[in-house]
Amino acid sequence: VPAPRVLSGIQPTADSFHLGNLLGALRQWVALQDDHDAFYCVVDLHAITAEQPDPAVLRQRTLVSAAQLLALGVDPERSTLFVQSHVPEHAQLAWVLQCLTGFGEASRMTQFKDKSTREGAGAASVGLFTYPVLQAADILLYQAARVPVGEDQRQHLELTRDLATRFNGRYGDTFTLPEAYVPPGAAKVLDLQSPDKKMSKSLPPAGCVNLLDDPKVTAKKIRSAVTDTGREVVADPVGKPGVTNLLAIHSALSGQSTAQLEEHFAGRGYGDLKKELADVVTEAFAPVQQRTAELLADTAELERVLAAGAARARAVAAPTLATVYERVGF
Ligand code: ADP
Ligand code: NA
Repeated sequence: VPAPRVLSGIQPTADSFHLGNLLGALRQWVALQDDHDAFYCVVDLHAITAEQPDPAVLRQRTLVSAAQLLALGVDPERSTLFVQSHVPEHAQLAWVLQCLTGFGEASRMTQFKDKSTREGAGAASVGLFTYPVLQAADILLYQAARVPVGEDQRQHLELTRDLATRFNGRYGDTFTLPEAYVPPGAAKVLDLQSPDKKMSKSLPPAGCVNLLDDPKVTAKKIRSAVTDTGREVVADPVGKPGVTNLLAIHSALSGQSTAQLEEHFAGRGYGDLKKELADVVTEAFAPVQQRTAELLADTAELERVLAAGAARARAVAAPTLATVYERVGF
């Protein structure tokens, strides 16, 4: 039985991935390689749905994103790692799928409603509006059986399945229907300053721990994390969301259970938890930072790895697109 194919992408829209990306997605990318045929892409086409004023910055962030993925353990021998814009079939299939998408159907996507409201009336691009259709193309091009999704992406995956079903019904069986897959061990990380929200690069930087931050900066962010009233280090998501978040991060990185950590910190205070957590985080980040720096010191080699990944991706994507074009009547 061949390993199930999985596809996932991440936007190159920050100078570093953050702890939420790591514990909620990227660690699972690495683990999935063991029993999946994985396709992982840095989705730069998606990135320009929000304005990217400086081309050099976008290009650099794409490389830094790829370097971090490799440093975290994405293995280009076992997985297909590539940059979305290197595979033109994504945009080509997206166009065909856009023509199968109802305007009303796209208008119901809640992520667009949220993001466009934030941008202000009329300011959002049409690309942001059709973003979920490009996502559908990313998935369907590779006949992915599984797509790791967080709650916020479920609606987009439903659209992908609807579009695949519609295309298959109209033109004959062409696309695999992808399933949502919740990989084991994915953790939701909360913002250190606003532990009622998930950690995000879109929130002020003090609450967001970046993989490539200087260890001193990371330690300071953790020391300054909002904690709760009381002094006992115990997990209580309702009464102590801040402390519970710090314990969850510790647990995810150290492998100790919450119960073990509560025992470990019994009779000690929040300060001790933060001090130790800063060490745990910076020690976990150090080798990844070093490997990222090594990879970025030889961009020619990094670009060669990405070109090889794009060639492998195209070997799958091009036949899918050829079938689609033929069936549509091109
Ligand atoms: P951001 O919210 O910083 O813009 P993205 O939306 O680009 O991050 O997320 C990239 C990936 O990381 C997605 O798979 C997303 O589910 C995951 N992710 C982002 N933030 C978190 C978080 N705080 N906790 C867990 N997973 C997260
Ligand atoms: Na986001």
